[in-house]
Amino acid sequence: MSPMQTLTAPRAHNTGRRHAPPTPAQAAPAAAQAAPAAQALDAVKVHGKGSTAVRALDSVSVSFDAGRFTAIMGPSGSGKSTLMHCLAGLDRLSGGQVMIGGTDLSTLNDKALTVLRRDRVGFIFQAFNLVPTLSAAENITLPLALAGRKAERAWYDTVISAVGLADRLSHRPSELSGGQAQRVACARALVSRPDIVFADEPTGNLDSRASAEVLGFMRRSVIELSQTIVMVTHDPVAASYADRVVFLADGRVAGEMSDPTAATVLDHMKSLEA
Ligand SMILES: Nc1ncnc2c1ncn2[C@@H]1O[C@H](COP(=O)(O)OP(=O)(O)OP(=O)(O)O)[C@@H](O)[C@H]1O
Ligand SMILES: [Mg+2]
Repeated sequence: MSPMQTLTAPRAHNTGRRHAPPTPAQAAPAAAQAAPAAQALDAVKVHGKGSTAVRALDSVSVSFDAGRFTAIMGPSGSGKSTLMHCLAGLDRLSGGQVMIGGTDLSTLNDKALTVLRRDRVGFIFQAFNLVPTLSAAENITLPLALAGRKAERAWYDTVISAVGLADRLSHRPSELSGGQAQRVACARALVSRPDIVFADEPTGNLDSRASAEVLGFMRRSVIELSQTIVMVTHDPVAASYADRVVFLADGRVAGEMSDPTAATVLDHMKSLEA
């Protein structure tokens, strides 16, 4: 299937959902259940000091299950990027905890945090952040190369095929469309098989068609490659590709929604901004 085929039907994922709740007979004992892929527990983040201090996160508790696609939404300044950066180990909390799998990030020194980010976390940024002098293929494998690792061949082929870039691998970023460039960035985030991928407004610079290409790929990577994705977005259509939306307002969790549609998300956003 080409990546384009899924793009016109973003809601198709609601059929065939892999995460139907288990029946009581199937449910694993609590102790055997896996930890969430990531979680924040009473997370507090204060930017700056004294009279200019901003409490960007004000006791946020939220968890993200493995194999799910979660969107984070909220008004500008509500703390979305701050939460994502702290969850991903790019910034440290002022109080509370963030966990990746079973690892409490506050227990890690800077070196250990760097290793965790390299080996267990993938990132997709609004501005793609590709290296202009490298080909698409070289960009995709750059983080592995920097870590002195080689891509697992079968997994690399799976990611390239899923992202629909097989005929663009020798192109430089300037020779790619915005949607293709962001799909290269998606492949780069996935090729190391991270436990979780964080994306901060990945479609913020894309038009609706290119956004659909990228979101369709992210959706497929969750369904077909069992990836876990947490994505910040302002776009209710983008959020409708997710399994769940968590809303933030003024640094606090302000509700959540399962199986979002663009219309239900828009309604909730309006109520937060009112
Ligand atoms: N490095 C910083 N220093 C000082 N204040 C900061 C810093 N980063 C963020 N803030 C403040 O923290 C609050 C939350 O910012 P954050 O970037 O997390 O919001 P956001 O929800 O991602 O907004 P947007 O939708 O505009 O990207 C804002 O009031 C912001 O001005
Ligand atoms: Mg932001």
